Amino acid sequence: MLFMVDSADLNGIKKCNEFFPISGVTTNPTIISSAKSDFKKLLLDIRNIIGEDKMLHVQATADTAEEIVKEAEMLRDFVGGNFYIKIPITEEGLKAMSMCKARGIGVTATAIFTQQQALMAARAGADFVAPYINRLDNIISDGVHVVEEIVQMFDKQGIKSKVLAASFKTCEQVHKVAMVGAHSVTINPDLFSTLIYHPLTMYAIDAFESDWSMVYGDKKVADLLAE
Ligand code: E4P
Repeated sequence: MLFMVDSADLNGIKKCNEFFPISGVTTNPTIISSAKSDFKKLLLDIRNIIGEDKMLHVQATADTAEEIVKEAEMLRDFVGGNFYIKIPITEEGLKAMSMCKARGIGVTATAIFTQQQALMAARAGADFVAPYINRLDNIISDGVHVVEEIVQMFDKQGIKSKVLAASFKTCEQVHKVAMVGAHSVTINPDLFSTLIYHPLTMYAIDAFESDWSMVYGDKKVADLLAE
C-alpha cells in the first residue's frame, strides 16, 4: 500500500518527504484554500519539495467536462512531473475523466462514497478512485467496507484502477483499509507521525541508549569503528 500526503502545508510536506516513504501529495480545493497563499507558487513549491517522480494530485474546480479538461491540461503543463488531475464523480466529471485519459493525463476520481461510483469512474478511465473513509464513518456508514468491496469488485472484473483511500482521522482506519487491500492511502502529516508512534518503542530505544552508555559512554558506533 502506497502512502501519500493529503496536505498543502509546506512544512508538513517537507517533513513527510524527508522522513516517510511517501509516493506523492494529494490536495483538494479546501486543502489548497487553507494554505491561504498564491496558488501557482504553492503548486511549484510542493513540486520542488517532492521532485518530478512523485505523484502530485490537484483537483479541478470547473463544472463542465470541457472546462475540467482545460484545467487539467493547464495544470499538467504548469505542475509538470508525475501529475494527476482530481475530478469529482459527477456526470460532467465522468465525461472529463474519459477525455483526460484520451489525452494521456493521469486521473483520480474523487469524492467517492459508493462502490458503484468507483466502478463507473474506473470504467471512465480513472487511474485512482478516492473513497472518503472518515466522512462515511461519520454518517454511520462503513468506509472500510466500501473500500473492501471496491477492491474485490476491481479484482473480480480485472479492473486496473487503484483505490486511493482518503479522508482519515485515525490510525485504525488506515490499518483497516490496508487489511482489506487498499492500494494507497492519503493522510495528513500528523497521522504519519501517529502511525509510527508507540511508547514501548520509545522505552526500548531509551533502554538501548542507557545500556550502551554504561559501557561506551558518549561514543557511538561510528566513533568506535574510527578508532
Ligand atoms: C482526498 O482526496 C480528500 O480530498 C480528503 O482526504 C478529504 O479529507 P477530509 O474528509 O478530512 O476533508
